[in-house]
Formats: sequence, C-alpha cells, structure tokens
Amino acid sequence: MKPPPSLNSAPFFFFLSYLAVSAAAITTNATAETPSSSSSTLDPKQIQALESLNIPTARDPCTQPSPHNATVCDSSKPFRHLVSLHLSNCSADLSLSFTALKSLSSLHSLSFTNCHTSPIRFPSDLSLSLTSFSCISSLRRLTGVWLSRFVNLTDLTVSFTPVNTTGLYVILGNMHQLKTVTISHANLTGSLPRHLHQNLTHVDLSDNKLKGNIPTSLTLLEDLEYLNLSSNGLNGVIPTEFGDLISLKNLSLASNSFSGSIPDSISAIPGLVHVDLSNNQLNGTVPRFFSELKGLKVLKLENNELHGVLPFNASFIKRLDVFKVGGNSNLCYNHSVLSSKLKLGIAACDKHGMPMSPPPSKDSSGDGDSGSSDYDDDSADDTSEKEQHHGPNKVVLGVAIGLSSIVFLIVFLILLSKWCG
Ligand SMILES: *[C@@H]1O[C@H](CO)[C@@H](O)[C@H](O)[C@H]1NC(C)=O
Ligand SMILES: *[C@@H]1O[C@H](CO)[C@@H](O)[C@H](O)[C@H]1NC(C)=O
Ligand SMILES: *[C@@H]1O[C@H](CO)[C@@H](O)[C@H](O)[C@H]1NC(C)=O
Ligand SMILES: *[C@@H]1O[C@H](CO)[C@@H](O)[C@H](O)[C@H]1NC(C)=O
Ligand SMILES: *[C@@H]1O[C@H](CO)[C@@H](O)[C@H](O)[C@H]1NC(C)=O
Ligand SMILES: *[C@@H]1O[C@H](CO)[C@@H](O)[C@H](O)[C@H]1NC(C)=O
Ligand SMILES: *[C@@H]1O[C@H](CO)[C@@H](O)[C@H](O)[C@H]1NC(C)=O
Ligand SMILES: *[C@@H]1O[C@H](CO)[C@@H](O)[C@H](O)[C@H]1NC(C)=O
Ligand SMILES: *[C@@H]1O[C@H](CO)[C@@H](O)[C@H](O)[C@H]1NC(C)=O
Ligand SMILES: *[C@@H]1O[C@H](CO)[C@@H](O)[C@H](O)[C@H]1NC(C)=O
Ligand SMILES: *[C@@H]1O[C@H](CO)[C@@H](O)[C@H](O)[C@H]1NC(C)=O
Ligand SMILES: *[C@@H]1O[C@H](CO)[C@@H](O)[C@H](O)[C@H]1NC(C)=O
Repeated sequence: MKPPPSLNSAPFFFFLSYLAVSAAAITTNATAETPSSSSSTLDPKQIQALESLNIPTARDPCTQPSPHNATVCDSSKPFRHLVSLHLSNCSADLSLSFTALKSLSSLHSLSFTNCHTSPIRFPSDLSLSLTSFSCISSLRRLTGVWLSRFVNLTDLTVSFTPVNTTGLYVILGNMHQLKTVTISHANLTGSLPRHLHQNLTHVDLSDNKLKGNIPTSLTLLEDLEYLNLSSNGLNGVIPTEFGDLISLKNLSLASNSFSGSIPDSISAIPGLVHVDLSNNQLNGTVPRFFSELKGLKVLKLENNELHGVLPFNASFIKRLDVFKVGGNSNLCYNHSVLSSKLKLGIAACDKHGMPMSPPPSKDSSGDGDSGSSDYDDDSADDTSEKEQHHGPNKVVLGVAIGLSSIVFLIVFLILLSKWCG
C-alpha cells in the first residue's frame, strides 16, 4: 500500500516548469489567450477559478493526459468538471479565495505541495466532496478543527506542516471512510486515539510529539498493512495482542521509549516485510520467530536493552536486506554459528551465553545508522584473527597461480620449438 500518489515529487517539478512556461506566455500574450479558453471543454466557472489560482488555462486543463495529472476532469456534458487538482510550488502571492474554491466543489482530490499560502475556511460543498486531501509543506499551519471538516476523506496526508490540535481524535473522529492517514513531521501533540476506524490500512504518524502508550484497541485494525509511529514520545509496553494486526507488512515503532519485551504474538503476523523497533528500551531476548517469517526483508533492533544469545544463523541474516542489532550491550552471537565477518556490532558469547569482550560503546552517535562499522575487527577475538589470514592466503595463492602459468608457458614453448624443429 503506497501513500497517496501526490507524494511523488518529480511530476510536481515538471508541472512547475509547465506553470512557469505557461505563466510567461500569459503575461506576454494575455489578450491572445482569451479566445483559447472559451474553446476549453471545462466549465467556464472552473476556468475562472483556476485562473485565480494562477493555473494556466491556455491549454485545455481537461486534455488527457494533463501535464502530470495536475488537473483531472470528469467527462460530463456540455461542460466537464475538475475531479482532481494538484497545486505545487505556488507563487508567493497566491491566495485562496472562497469564491474560487466554491466553484471547485466537484473536486474529489485536492493536494498542495510547497504552497505556503494561508489556509482559509473551505466552502462546505468542497469539504464534503473531497475524498483525498494532501498537504505537504503547505498552508503554513493547520488546526485539527480545520482538518476535521473533511468528513468524507478516504485518504489524508499532512506532512511537514504544523498541526495544532488537542488530539488526533479531533481530526479523525468524524472521518468514517478513512483508509489511509499520514500526519508526519507535523509537531502533533496529544496521545493516540482510543478508537480508530476499522478499515484503516495505512497509519503514519511518524516524527511528531505524541505521548502515552499504544492503546490495545489499535490491535483491532485487522486491515492495517502499514504502521509507522517512529520518532515520537510514546512509551509503555508493546501490547501482547499486537499479533492481532494480521495484515501488517511494514511496522516502525523506532525512536520512542517503548520498554518490556517483544511480544511473541508478532510471530502470528505472516506477511511482515519491514520491522523497525530500534532506539527504544526494549528488553528480554531476541525472539527466534523472526527467522520463520518468510517475507521479512528488514529487521532493525539496534539500540535497545536486548540480552542473551542471538538466535539466528547466517543464512537467515544474509537473506535480509537490512539487519541491525548493534547497541544492545548484553546481546551476543554464538561464534560457532555466526562469523565475526558479519560485523553485527555485538560481541561474541562466552560459553555461558554472555558477551565476551567489552561490547561496542552504546553512546557513539553513528551507532544506529552504521550498525555494522562500529565493531572493531582488531579487537582480538579468535574468529576475527582467523579471518584476517584470508587476505595473505589469497595473495600467496595468486602468486602461485601466476608462477605456475609462466612455467607452463615456458614448457609449452620449449615443446613447441622442439616439435617445429
Ligand atoms: C515496506 O517495506 C519494504 C521493505 O523495506 C519497502 O520496500 C516498501 O516500500 C515498504 N512499504 C511502504 C508502504 O513503505
Ligand atoms: C518545486 O518542487 C519540487 C518538489 O516538488 C522541488 O524539487 C523544486 O526544487 C521546486 N522548485 C522551486 C523553484 O521551488
Ligand atoms: C501570442 O500567441 C499567438 C497564438 O498563440 C502566437 O502565435 C504568438 O507568437 C504569441 N505572441 C507572443 C508575443 O508570444
Ligand atoms: C495520471 O492518472 C492516471 C489515472 O489515474 C494514472 O494511471 C497515471 O499514472 C497518472 N500519471 C501521473 C504522471 O501521475
Ligand atoms: C459526505 O458526507 C455527508 C455527510 O456526512 C453526506 O451527506 C454526503 O452525501 C457525502 N458526500 C459525498 C460526495 O460522498
Ligand atoms: C516543530 O517544532 C520545532 C521546534 O519547536 C520546529 O523547529 C519545527 O520547525 C516544527 N516543525 C514543523 C513542521 O513546523
Ligand atoms: C494552538 O491553539 C491554541 C488554541 O487555539 C492556542 O492557544 C495555542 O497558542 C496554539 N499553539 C500554537 C503553537 O500555535
Ligand atoms: C469496511 O469495509 C467493508 C468492506 O471492505 C465494508 O463493508 C464496511 O462497511 C467498511 N466499514 C466502514 C466503517 O467503513
Ligand atoms: C517511518 O517514518 C520515518 C520518518 O517519516 C521514515 O524515515 C521511515 O522510513 C518510516 N519507516 C517505515 C517502516 O516505513
Ligand atoms: C524489562 O522491562 C520491564 C519494563 O520496564 C521491567 O519490568 C522488567 O523487569 C525488565 N526485565 C528485564 C529482564 O530487565
Ligand atoms: C537457519 O535458520 C532457519 C530458520 O530458523 C532454518 O530454517 C534453516 O534451516 C537454518 N539454516 C541452517 C543452514 O542451519
Ligand atoms: C553455540 O552453538 C553450538 C553449536 O550449535 C552449541 O553447541 C553451543 O552450546 C552454543 N553456545 C551457546 C553459548 O549458545
């Protein structure tokens, strides 16, 4: 499940170029443009509205394909109506007018990217007709009450735009059709709502200032495929019922203050692809069940308080695209199962299952990101010394092959000259 399509930045860039070119044409050739507008198939009222939003109408905004879907129209007659509008990189003087927006209430999808214009109260016809609303680095500052008026949304995205609200429930409480919600990098405060809509498939509330714990009711979202709560101030334990999220594919609870152990019930989620629990205070052992999740590609457990022997073998670790466990000072690996070459960022175990050498320092800032490079291979444990002999051995082998080739060549030449002579 991808976030709403408007997140793709390339089309917006090209749309900007188109805007810039057309805007230039309008300013230098304003009178010549007027006749071409009237030949448009779009409702004249909506053409006026687009013009007031600095959107060029020299070319029919309904021509298919419109430049990168900035405008998408229905096929009604005699005039077509806009169903989708993407505004991006708006000029600084753009201001939204109530009249313009009122004539755009045929829109189902509206998105803003890099439009730092002031938000105004939307006409209620438009608020009710929208099923998709996206605001990325736009509209300066939003409030929960302002957003809560879009009651028919299935997709809501607000990113890199501060949202002032007493709680998420204010925004989401009346959006009964909602399927995907992203409110990220928005300085959102408050706690996670006790009740979320059953049909949510995508919840991204990353990088905000949310506090409190994960309500058990969140585990009722059977259709949830994507959950990202990373970089907040959340705490408490991961609910034992977490495994009830049976559709989950991508999960991040990273960079919060979660404690306790990783619940065993997660083993019941068959489709997990991406699991990031890094930078918390999770304790207990690393569960073995991760190695039985067939689709798993990313497993990040670094910078926690996990302990004991890492229960994985090399074939599992190599199957993953990303595997990080560094920064767990009481976690170690069995060196008769795993090679130090894997550079896991944890120490080898002694025969009691305790870390052997002093573990890598936890406070180093690069710990989380590099994960693998913080483990110093020269820190003299047997296995790493063994590996270091591989270098010289290869050189010796190469020289030997080279020499024997030369000898073979000389013998061959001698034989050849004898045979020819
Ligand atoms: C889920 O994780 C996988 C593996 O990291 C990634 O390829 C995919 O894009 C992620 N999906 C979403 C919606 O972020
Ligand atoms: C327009 O927006 C795109 C991203 O949507 C950005 O890469 C580009 O730099 C922007 N251009 C200007 C002039 O703001
Ligand atoms: C004005 O527009 C007409 C028709 O679109 C075009 O042929 C002409 O070159 C334009 N003139 C200028 C000055 O851009
Ligand atoms: C434009 O919209 C069509 C139909 O919704 C979609 O298939 C296509 O991928 C979109 N193109 C871009 C560049 O977003
Ligand atoms: C949106 O919601 C309102 C009230 O909740 C409802 O009456 C209306 O039919 C909906 N509009 C659309 C276009 O779905
Ligand atoms: C959130 O708040 C911090 C500090 O208060 C500020 O630096 C940051 O720009 C804010 N983020 C947004 C998206 O407004
Ligand atoms: C958020 O809104 C409340 C009430 O409207 C106001 O008192 C407060 O100053 C606002 N916070 C910010 C950061 O603007
Ligand atoms: C959830 O989706 C199902 C079908 O996918 C639908 O029957 C049901 O009405 C939806 N529930 C809500 C609250 O939208
Ligand atoms: C969660 O969100 C953060 C910040 O928005 C992002 O960097 C990270 O890749 C996301 N994690 C997943 C699993 O999608
Ligand atoms: C793990 O953390 C929980 C909650 O902080 C605590 O109650 C428990 O004693 C810890 N267990 C271990 C083995 O450290
Ligand atoms: C590695 O572990 C996986 C999962 O526990 C297991 O299926 C596999 O047989 C093991 N491979 C080896 C070579 O031991
Ligand atoms: C390491 O693995 C070997 C072979 O599987 C096993 O005999 C030994 O008990 C393990 N050591 C620890 C500390 O788990």
